[in-house]
Amino acid sequence: MSPAMNIVLPILAIASTAYASCSVSGTTTIQNAGDATQLATCTNTFSGSIAIETGAAGPIALDGIKKIDGDLVITNNSIIQILSGDSLEEITGTFKLDTVQVLNTVNFPKLKTVNEIIWNALANLQATQFDAEITKVSNLDIQNTQLQSLEGINLESVDKVTIANNRYISSIIMQLGNVTNALTLEANNPEVNVSFPNLEWAFNLTFRNCSSVQVPSLATLNGSMGLYGNTFEDFSAPNLTKIGGALAFASNTELTNITLPELTEVTGALQIANNTKLSEINGIPKLKTIGGALDFHGNMSDVELPALNDVKGAFNLQSTGDIQKACDDSFQPLKDKGKIQGNFVCKGSVANPGGEGSTPTVTGAGAKKTGAASALSIDTNALGLVGLAAAFLL
Ligand SMILES: *[C@@H]1O[C@H](CO)[C@@H](O)[C@H](O)[C@H]1NC(C)=O
Ligand SMILES: *[C@@H]1O[C@H](CO)[C@@H](O)[C@H](O)[C@H]1NC(C)=O
Ligand SMILES: *[C@@H]1O[C@H](CO)[C@@H](O)[C@H](O)[C@H]1NC(C)=O
Ligand SMILES: *[C@@H]1O[C@H](CO)[C@@H](O)[C@H](O)[C@H]1NC(C)=O
Ligand SMILES: *[C@@H]1O[C@H](CO)[C@@H](O)[C@H](O)[C@H]1NC(C)=O
Ligand SMILES: *[C@@H]1O[C@H](CO)[C@@H](O)[C@H](O)[C@H]1NC(C)=O
Ligand SMILES: *[C@@H]1O[C@H](CO)[C@@H](O)[C@H](O)[C@H]1NC(C)=O
Ligand SMILES: *[C@@H]1O[C@H](CO)[C@@H](O)[C@H](O)[C@H]1NC(C)=O
Ligand SMILES: *[C@@H]1O[C@H](CO)[C@@H](O)[C@H](O)[C@H]1NC(C)=O
Ligand SMILES: *[C@@H]1O[C@H](CO)[C@@H](O)[C@H](O)[C@H]1NC(C)=O
Repeated sequence: MSPAMNIVLPILAIASTAYASCSVSGTTTIQNAGDATQLATCTNTFSGSIAIETGAAGPIALDGIKKIDGDLVITNNSIIQILSGDSLEEITGTFKLDTVQVLNTVNFPKLKTVNEIIWNALANLQATQFDAEITKVSNLDIQNTQLQSLEGINLESVDKVTIANNRYISSIIMQLGNVTNALTLEANNPEVNVSFPNLEWAFNLTFRNCSSVQVPSLATLNGSMGLYGNTFEDFSAPNLTKIGGALAFASNTELTNITLPELTEVTGALQIANNTKLSEINGIPKLKTIGGALDFHGNMSDVELPALNDVKGAFNLQSTGDIQKACDDSFQPLKDKGKIQGNFVCKGSVANPGGEGSTPTVTGAGAKKTGAASALSIDTNALGLVGLAAAFLL
């Protein structure tokens, strides 16, 4: 606060009520609807944070204010149902709603810009009204709400997104062009359809428990992408060329088709594991380089990576299906030529296909006894895979 403000504040306090001041150094606490109405005199910017008391009933209407240069916070309030602001366009700090059990209306028709949205445990919030659409947020974190959609939140670009445990959300669609840090979707409605039609690049992407994921424009990832426990049958990223970290598909129970037609390089590990119905891996025709380990285990009977010629980590391919021909004709020769640098395991007809480092037990009569697991020599690149698995276990 500037020295001038220090002088002005007490004068305002005398002239009007404590809340008529449009600039506070800390947090103004609103206890009731009347307190909120008093703030309406601040027709432009309210400088400072606004917190709504645990015991405030509302409805709380922050009408008149265009900009809150601070935070707007309600935590642990079990009586407020309605929060609104007819003129609010921007919150420069955090818009936090945490454990506000009966809140059912959040109506800010002009809100467009918020630094952080952190909402958690909103047991009655099924919808929000943001008519102008919120397009600029650096951190969006929405968990444990009853929201059925994110209508009105349509970000152009973002640093970090976490949307988890919203059991009713039916679709997550945004115009997002890029994600500078990470986007994680997890344990929302199992039927949730996800679409980011304009997303061109992201650092990390993690999709869990989604019913469909569309990323038609995704071209590069600086970091990693993991897809776990989803129920889609197809996954395709038609424009994806390069992954700066790891790529993992695990436990996607309905997945039958992975299509990554332009992917040439994965700098970290590539893991495709325990996707029960995935019998063919033949949609990654241009993949040339894997900077970490390759770890495929599951029920595959056809594995084709025709362009592969450099695996810096280990190679582990274990399947219940008969993949001996691919092992003999495609992968063993790469190992022999030194193009697979780490430990090499390639085995079909395995009873319980396991991850990199596990020793396969062949049950079927069809499998030749070649390519058996040797004593383990997991090099540092292979350890990247362990890191990958750990990093994605939230
Ligand atoms: C939430 O409020 C209730 C009473 O209103 C109180 O007992 C409880 O301690 C508060 N919890 C937190 C985390 O502030
Ligand atoms: C997701 O899309 C599928 C296929 O279009 C549709 O059947 C399903 O109902 C959608 N999910 C929700 C929650 O609307
Ligand atoms: C991020 O996406 C936004 C919206 O599409 C775009 O305006 C911006 O140029 C992008 N930034 C970078 C660095 O790609
Ligand atoms: C991306 O994910 C990796 C592995 O989980 C992690 O080490 C890294 O910090 C993440 N980077 C960002 C920017 O979130
Ligand atoms: C895919 O990439 C090409 C070449 O960069 C580009 O012309 C095309 O618009 C992209 N497609 C989508 C859906 O973004
Ligand atoms: C991530 O990749 C995009 C697109 O290639 C690039 O514009 C951006 O600067 C990269 N970000 C980081 C942190 O490396
Ligand atoms: C969500 O996916 C994880 C795997 O990442 C899985 O363990 C979990 O059972 C799934 N949850 C639901 C509700 O499907
Ligand atoms: C797999 O998906 C791709 C693109 O989504 C499609 O072109 C191809 O026909 C599918 N393959 C099978 C076997 O369904
Ligand atoms: C796949 O399942 C096996 C057996 O349950 C387990 O040992 C392995 O860790 C799983 N792999 C992944 C990547 O989840
Ligand atoms: C292979 O398929 C069977 C039967 O669908 C399933 O029980 C098993 O978990 C699958 N194994 C792997 C490693 O995905």
